[in-house]
Amino acid sequence: MKIEFIVPDKTHLQALYDIECRAHQYPWSHHLLSSNFGNRYFNGAILHQQQIIGFYIADLLLDESTLLNICIDPAWQGHGFGQQLLEHYLQQTAARGCIQWWLEVRASNITAQNLYQKMGYHEVGLRKNYYQNGNVSEDAFVMQRFQD
Ligand SMILES: CC(C)(COP(=O)(O)OP(=O)(O)OC[C@H]1O[C@@H](n2cnc3c(N)ncnc32)[C@H](O)[C@@H]1OP(=O)(O)O)[C@@H](O)C(=O)NCCC(=O)NCCS
Repeated sequence: MKIEFIVPDKTHLQALYDIECRAHQYPWSHHLLSSNFGNRYFNGAILHQQQIIGFYIADLLLDESTLLNICIDPAWQGHGFGQQLLEHYLQQTAARGCIQWWLEVRASNITAQNLYQKMGYHEVGLRKNYYQNGNVSEDAFVMQRFQD
C-alpha cells in the first residue's frame, strides 16, 4: 500500500489529535499534544490515500532519542503501518546521529511491546505505578534500543 511520510506542524494538530483520541484509551490532552511541537521535538506522520493515518512524537538530543507517543488510527491498525512508521522514525533519527533509543510503555500494552521488541528494543526497567488515571495506576516498562 502506497504511503508517504511528512513532518507534521501545527496545521496538522487537529488531525493528529483526532487520531490520538481514537487510538488511546487515555489520550493526551489537546494542550499536551500542542506543546509537543517545536525545535526540541522530532515528529513524523504517515499518510495513506493522502490522509494522515498515524504519527509519532519524539525528541532527539545529541545521540539519544526518546519516543514519547506513536499511534495509528484504529481503522488502519494491523496492516503494517505502525511498523513502517517506527522504522521511519528509527532511520530518520539514526541519519541524524542517534545511536540509543528509549521509550516507556504500559505494562498492559502487549501490541506495542511486541512491535518494539520486533524492532530491536529490550526491556531495561520498570517504573511502578508510572501511569496515573484517577484512582487507577499502571506500571511502565522502560525499553531501550541500540544501533545495530
Ligand atoms: C501500537 C501500534 C502503533 C501498532 O501499529 P499497527 O499498525 O497496528 O501494527 P503493525 O500492523 O505495523 O504490526 C507490527 C507488529 O506489532 C505487533 N502487533 C500488531 N498488532 C498486534 C496485536 N493485535 N496483538 C499483538 N501484537 C500485535 C506485532 O509484533 C506486529 O508484527 P507482526 O505483524 O509481524 O506480528 C497501534 O496498535 C496503535 O496505535 N495502538 C494504540 C496506541 C498505542 O498503544 N501506542 C503505543 C504506546 S504510546
